[in-house]
Amino acid sequence: MGAGMTQTPPKTYHVKSFGCQMNVYDGERMGELLAARGMTAAGDGAEADLVVLNTCHIRERAAEKVYSDIGRLRREDGTRPMIAVAGCVAQAEGSEITRRTKAVDIVVGPQAYHRLPGLIDDVVAGREAVDTDMPADSKFDILPGRARRSAPSAFLTVQEGCDKFCTYCVVPYTRGAEVSRPWNAIMDEARALVDAGACEITLLGQNVNAWSGEDDAGRPQGLDGLIRALDRLPGLARIRYTTSHPNDMTQALIDAHAEVPALMPFLHLPVQAGSDRILKAMNRSHSRDSYLRIIERVRAARPDIALSGDFIVGFPGETDAEFEETLSIVNEARYAQCFSFKYSPRPGTPAADMEGQIAPEVMDERLKRLQATLNVHQLAFNQASVGQRTTILLERKGRHPGQLIGKTPWLQSVHIDGTSAAIGDLIAVDILSAGPNSLAGALASPLAA
Ligand code: 5AD
Ligand code: SF4
Repeated sequence: MGAGMTQTPPKTYHVKSFGCQMNVYDGERMGELLAARGMTAAGDGAEADLVVLNTCHIRERAAEKVYSDIGRLRREDGTRPMIAVAGCVAQAEGSEITRRTKAVDIVVGPQAYHRLPGLIDDVVAGREAVDTDMPADSKFDILPGRARRSAPSAFLTVQEGCDKFCTYCVVPYTRGAEVSRPWNAIMDEARALVDAGACEITLLGQNVNAWSGEDDAGRPQGLDGLIRALDRLPGLARIRYTTSHPNDMTQALIDAHAEVPALMPFLHLPVQAGSDRILKAMNRSHSRDSYLRIIERVRAARPDIALSGDFIVGFPGETDAEFEETLSIVNEARYAQCFSFKYSPRPGTPAADMEGQIAPEVMDERLKRLQATLNVHQLAFNQASVGQRTTILLERKGRHPGQLIGKTPWLQSVHIDGTSAAIGDLIAVDILSAGPNSLAGALASPLAA
């Protein structure tokens, strides 16, 4: 197969998304696009006529992983599905992918996936199908409406791209410049999601708190204004947003945490490192202190806020003493949960060429120590919930028969057994016990209320 040979049009599809929540969102939208073309979803890659690998390029040898996934799509009879590589690896590698393997038919970047149907037609006609444009026409104007059924908790992309250029990060290159979707498009999509059954919406953006726009009366608004408008949507019980940059954490958004009932008490606000010298080398444009002061203001507005973050260990030149400052900022900030990563040089980013790349053993050791420290805080945060009564949104089935899993306002997972409640219900539970990663609860008895 490959360019030059015609293929039969695919009837079924399977989208596999890697990486961040925005990729999950993009994967859903691609599925909806293919369904609108009359294709049906296949259970897994082996059965589908078209497999879309929606890739992530943020860390590690993501591209290598894609090539091994492609190899695994070969069927026993030697045939394979039509394969599309989408997402950030597609954007970063472009036609290098089709040069390297004949098994890939389509390469499509994150800003061009609304053109997937045309690219499928190209493959069917035997033409090359590589599209890594960042077109001026927004994909959102062209994508079909949201599916008629939604999970109780849905994602909604409101902002994409990044202008911050942290020196380790590939996102400004793969996702492009910061762009905010218009107010009305977001409100319409939120209404459609609620009509389809969503009662929680997580607003997504690489720098979601940099969202800006004008409301339907033409007044300038920031993310806080959008959140306040969404709070008035009947049926929408919970609003979240992620990921935020410290420099875009306005007082108005902090105030919204005190004043907007549907805005959940959770904030993902990455700091990455605790040393000012490393933060400067990362081009983070905030200091350790300015970050801690923002958190103080957030806690003043919403004392019970659950704080989350991202950390990178082993940035080029990071000394032992500088790494200790990362441990100490963790102890000062007291995170409820965190993601922590070993620094991974990304081709084309400034940090990849910096002196003082850190040895893998040193990174392993630092990551272990950081995660042990983070776990102490995560467990303490969860244990503080034991004995409390709270509301959870039931989102999925658990591993045991009859078990359901829901989320607290602070994004902790709660397992409950033997309840007559159903997925999508918001229920009151008593928290019985806590581990580092989840809580166990029981339906709150009305007698004890
Ligand atoms: N190496 C390791 N971690 C990275 N991240 C981004 N780029 C890199 C990299 N080159 C992490 C940051 C970011 C999260 C999404 O991924 O912590 O916040
Ligand atoms: Fe990457 Fe920094 Fe932009 Fe986040 S703010 S996407 S880490 S460049």
